[in-house]
Amino acid sequence: MNKNINKISQSLLLNIDTQTSLFESDRKVQPRSGPTDILYKGDNELVLRKLESCLKNSIDFCYIDPPYNTKSKFIYDDSRVSDNHITWGSHAEWMQFMTPRLVHLHSLLKDSGIVAISIDDYEQPYLRILLDQIFGESNFIACIAVCRSRNGKGSKDSIATNHEYIVVYGKSSKAKVVGFVESDLSSYDKEDEHGKYKVNGLFRKKGDASLREDRPNMYYPLYYDNDGNVFTENPDNLLKVSYPLDSKGIERRWLWGKEKATKESWKLTASKNGVIYVKNYHTADKRVKPRSLWVDNRYLTERATNQIKDIYGTKVFETPKPLELIEDLIISHTHKDALIIDFFAGTGTTAHAAFNLNQKDGGKRKVILVEQEQPIAKSHTAYKQGFRTISDITEFRLKWLEEKYNDFSFHSEVVS
Ligand SMILES: C[S@@+](CC[C@H](N)C(=O)[O-])C[C@H]1O[C@@H](n2cnc3c(N)ncnc32)[C@H](O)[C@@H]1O
Repeated sequence: MNKNINKISQSLLLNIDTQTSLFESDRKVQPRSGPTDILYKGDNELVLRKLESCLKNSIDFCYIDPPYNTKSKFIYDDSRVSDNHITWGSHAEWMQFMTPRLVHLHSLLKDSGIVAISIDDYEQPYLRILLDQIFGESNFIACIAVCRSRNGKGSKDSIATNHEYIVVYGKSSKAKVVGFVESDLSSYDKEDEHGKYKVNGLFRKKGDASLREDRPNMYYPLYYDNDGNVFTENPDNLLKVSYPLDSKGIERRWLWGKEKATKESWKLTASKNGVIYVKNYHTADKRVKPRSLWVDNRYLTERATNQIKDIYGTKVFETPKPLELIEDLIISHTHKDALIIDFFAGTGTTAHAAFNLNQKDGGKRKVILVEQEQPIAKSHTAYKQGFRTISDITEFRLKWLEEKYNDFSFHSEVVS
C-alpha cells in the first residue's frame, strides 16, 4: 500500500470512498466536488508511478513544460547531455528522462485525454519520436507554434528564433480538442427571428459522394422567392426553381433529404441567382477550431516575467509561462470540469490559469501539480527571497492564491 499519496489527496481529487483502499484498481470513482488543487512535492517519476496505482484513466488534460535541455544555468537542472549515443546522439539522456514520465502519463489519461507539451527546436523532434511511440502516430493532434518574443534570441545562424512549440497528442481517437468559444460575432452580419447568422456554407454537397447518383433522394428542386426564402414546394407556381448543379452544370446533390429540408427550410437562404446556402447561426456553445500558429502579445515570455514579479516581488524563476497562454490552451483543449495535471509545475502557472478560468466560466477544473524539492543554490535570487526548494516557489503561488481568493484552496503533500 502506498503511504505517500494519501487518502486525503485522493478524496480531494475524486471524492472517492475513503473507506476502501485507495489502491484497489477496481475502486469506484465518483464525481468530484470542491475546487481543491493538489501539489505533490517530489520527483515526478515517483509521483506519477504512485498515482498510476489509483488514478489510471482518470485525467482529462495534461500540460507540461519540461526542461528544454538548453544547458542554461536555471534554478533547475537544464542540462542532460549524452556522449554521442549510437542512435540519439546527445539527446539520449533527455529522452531517457522523459520516457518513463510519458509512459505513466499515458496510463493516467482517460481515453479522451489530451497532452500538450511546451518545447523548443532542440528537443522537439526527439519529443515527437517519443510521443509517436508512446501515444501512437495516429494520435498526433498538432504542433502549435507560439510566438514567445517579438525580437527573438540572437543567433549564430542569423535567424533570431522567436517561437517555440506546444506539441499536442490525444490518448486515442476519442480525444477531441474542444476549440475556443466564439467571441467575435462581427462576422454574423445577418439576423432573423432565430438569431444572428452568416451565410458561408453552400447547401450543395461538394467533394466526395456529391453526385446525383451518389444519393438520388438528395437531388430535388428547391424554390425561392425574391427575399431569399427557400421552399420545397411551389403550389402557386410563383417561385423560382434551383437544382444542385455546379458551375459546370454537373448534377450534384443537396446536403439533406427533402423531408429535413421541408422541416428546416428556415435554415436555408437563396441568393438572387438561386444559389442555396445554409444559414450559419451563432449559438452560445459554438466553438472555433484553434489554429496551429499562436501569435498574441498575451503569450510573450516577458508578460510571464511581469506576472512573476507581481506575485513574488522579483524574478525568482527564469522560465515561467504566461497565464493567458495556459488559459487559452486549457479552454481550447478540454472541458470545464476537467481534471488536469502538470508535473513540471515550476511557479504553478497551470493551477493559476485553471482557477482563473473557473472564476470566469463557473467550471470545476482541478489541477494536480508536481514539483521537485530540489534545493535552490545560495547565489540564486529565489534563495535570497527565502525560498529553499523549487517546490517552495510553487507552494508560494498557491498560498498567494488562497489568501487572495476565498474559493481557491489546495492541499500539498511530500512524496518520497
Ligand atoms: C520549465 S519549468 C516549468 C515552468 C512552468 N511552466 C511555469 O510556468 O512556471 C520546468 C520545471 O520542472 C521541474 N522539474 C524538473 N525535473 C523534475 C522532476 N524530475 N520532478 C519534478 N519536477 C521537475 C523544474 O524544477 C522546473 O520547475
